Amino acid sequence: MSANKKPNAGPQPGGARHFDAPAHTRGQSIFLDDIPLVHGTLFGAAFGSPIAHGHIRQLHLDEAVQCPGVVRIFTHKDVSGENQIGGIVPDEPLFAETHVHYCGMPVAFVVATSDAAARHAVSKIKADIDPLPVTTDPREAQARGELIVPPRTFRLGDTAAAWQHCIHIIEGRTETNGQEHLYIETQGAYALPQENNAIRVYSSTQAPTATQRAVGKITGLAMHAIDVEVTRLGGGFGGKEDQANGWAALCALACLHLGTPVKYALPRTDDIVMTGKRHPYSSDFKLGLDAEGKILAYEVSFYQNAGAAADLSPAVLERTLFHCTNSYYIPNVKATAYSCRTHLPPNTAFRGFGGPQGMFVIEAAIAKAAETLGMPATRIQKANLLRSGDEFPYGQKAVSEAHACWQKAEQLYGIDVLEQQVEDFNAKHRLTKKGIAFMPICFGISFTKTLLNQARALVHVYTDGSVSLSTGAVEMGQGVNSKMIQVAATVFSIDAALVRIQATSTQRIANTSPSAASATADLNGKAVEMACHAILDRLRPVAAAELNANPALRSSQATVDPASIQIRNGLVYNDGEPTILHWKQLIMAAYVRRVSLSEHSHYATPQIHFDYTKEKGHPFAYHVYGTAIVTATLDCLRGRYSIDAVKIVHDAGASMNLTIDRGQIEGGIVQGIGWMTMEEVVYDEKGRLRSNTLSTYKVPDIYSAPAEIAVDFLHTDRNNLAVFRSKAVGEPPLMYGIGAWFALRNAIRAFNPAARLPFDAPLTPEKALMGLYQKQPSHVAG
Ligand code: MOS
Repeated sequence: MSANKKPNAGPQPGGARHFDAPAHTRGQSIFLDDIPLVHGTLFGAAFGSPIAHGHIRQLHLDEAVQCPGVVRIFTHKDVSGENQIGGIVPDEPLFAETHVHYCGMPVAFVVATSDAAARHAVSKIKADIDPLPVTTDPREAQARGELIVPPRTFRLGDTAAAWQHCIHIIEGRTETNGQEHLYIETQGAYALPQENNAIRVYSSTQAPTATQRAVGKITGLAMHAIDVEVTRLGGGFGGKEDQANGWAALCALACLHLGTPVKYALPRTDDIVMTGKRHPYSSDFKLGLDAEGKILAYEVSFYQNAGAAADLSPAVLERTLFHCTNSYYIPNVKATAYSCRTHLPPNTAFRGFGGPQGMFVIEAAIAKAAETLGMPATRIQKANLLRSGDEFPYGQKAVSEAHACWQKAEQLYGIDVLEQQVEDFNAKHRLTKKGIAFMPICFGISFTKTLLNQARALVHVYTDGSVSLSTGAVEMGQGVNSKMIQVAATVFSIDAALVRIQATSTQRIANTSPSAASATADLNGKAVEMACHAILDRLRPVAAAELNANPALRSSQATVDPASIQIRNGLVYNDGEPTILHWKQLIMAAYVRRVSLSEHSHYATPQIHFDYTKEKGHPFAYHVYGTAIVTATLDCLRGRYSIDAVKIVHDAGASMNLTIDRGQIEGGIVQGIGWMTMEEVVYDEKGRLRSNTLSTYKVPDIYSAPAEIAVDFLHTDRNNLAVFRSKAVGEPPLMYGIGAWFALRNAIRAFNPAARLPFDAPLTPEKALMGLYQKQPSHVAG
């Protein structure tokens, strides 16, 4: 990736960097599989249903039980609590009982003396299952009334009345496929018995409390008897927000029954087959515009493929509705969403959480409108960008950076020149074409479920001046721990090396919200900020008392007032003048004076609310905006392509760590491009995953990453409720990748103006080739 423009952000507090980088680089970081095993540890492996839907007649475990090393095989009959792990809706048994609902659904759990023995025994399990009809299509499921939760509709204005004012009305259908998370570290857990019938679980989870709760439900233990601890994850991307729980519950159940430690780290293929993915969506749109391209009305129906159980689908569905108008103001909107129950593994959170699926549809509608109106899509996009004060369909008013990002991108990257280059190239080349597209984004920050927007931090200062920091945040590579260290180091104004962040533990921090929704740094960072300030407030009077008792420590002879005490770079200042009292001496003085050096703080995002009966409110603390300009080159003989460049202006607020934020942006774009162009999840009609290995499921590698990613930060200093005004960065950049789909589409149309490409993602080379040589408008879609 190319070097980027010099960042125009403010100073970076607290020694901004990724504090995990040295240990990662040396291979010293501890992931689940690196935890030293306790003597006597046993190993689990799950037997998943070989078919997608059926009635279990009989389970044959005899041969497996006889296999060498097998200690015990668990089924639903062994569940000491309740056989249920559904979080939002209690519709998901841990073990299948009488029926299986998807391929890979756990039916039995083998525990043996080694991984290999457990897996071998699993291969000897046989099940007689009478097959039942399988549904993989969400529209089919909806037609039969197979819904996870009742449908939801967001409304603004009056679409029915608006159509008559529209000069152009465009209708169509879109499809977006799922996406495999492919975190580098697969799912896993390691459960250890503790005294007095308690249990400790190491889990690769984004949600320690959800894991604790699920373990409690399955085992029947109270939450206080279950400690869940997470050092870090080798990636999550949403795949471990809900779906880490089952593996932890299996290990915990076996651990309690056997009184021995039990570990289960999933082999890659099991992980790919048994876990859910990004939700595929099928959608219908209707867009109405005036002659100038101003959008007057938008109606959309979303059919979400939820899979066999609710998992997080209702929440994902909601975010699709929240983001259905992307960064545009549309005065009349009616958006309805159906969460459809099919026989696929329960689909789950994935970076963007339904938002990208909603945004693709409005971008498709605009692209189709541009064709009809004979104007560039960019003109329609730009003419409809949100302005501050515009109302979202859910009632919140925008504080918009949409125009600022768009205009800065046009100027900074020289859009006239870029467009001319594409035009010149296409005029000169017959069998290679370039395409260019803009992708503006707008993403709301906060959990849409308001109650989840709370977090806690525990800060201890030890008598040597070193600081221990615990939060509910889970580090999964995104750098949240680095940001937490920065917050503490900045508030105390001490060297970041004095601050150590502890593993995330339900013993230290209770009732954590998942590390998700891009909100982890904000929520936990605000709690850290509060805790450090509380300690600092107790240190000021100590410093004043010390200085008053020892005049030799200071230059001025006047009595020191606690209010005039400051700490800067580890030194106490009085009234702006340095003293010779250091942080470490101050801490010891506080201890001697029996002043508390510990604090536990609680933060709850202010101002947010949502009324589900009206589907209106103010659900987000703020929005993140941005604009990407994507250019692509297409080989018109073979359908192969490359993404030349993604040039971005990203609204970071006042970024507190440009290194981490840039990393999130680059990673998000590549992941988004993968979803839109190459990652093809294929289930057959029997609900079996065909793309179940990395030879049949193509993810972007370094060769398919854009040749250039340019990131410019739009620096803003609004009081935005973000930690240190540094806006959330986890999910929004993924949606820049949607621009790649439309850049490729434009390249196809440069070769074949008759192409009416279905709005069907991913746009694989095969589909590109079909579009390049399509003779007549497709009747399928588009
Ligand atoms: Mo994230 S997709 O909100 O776990």
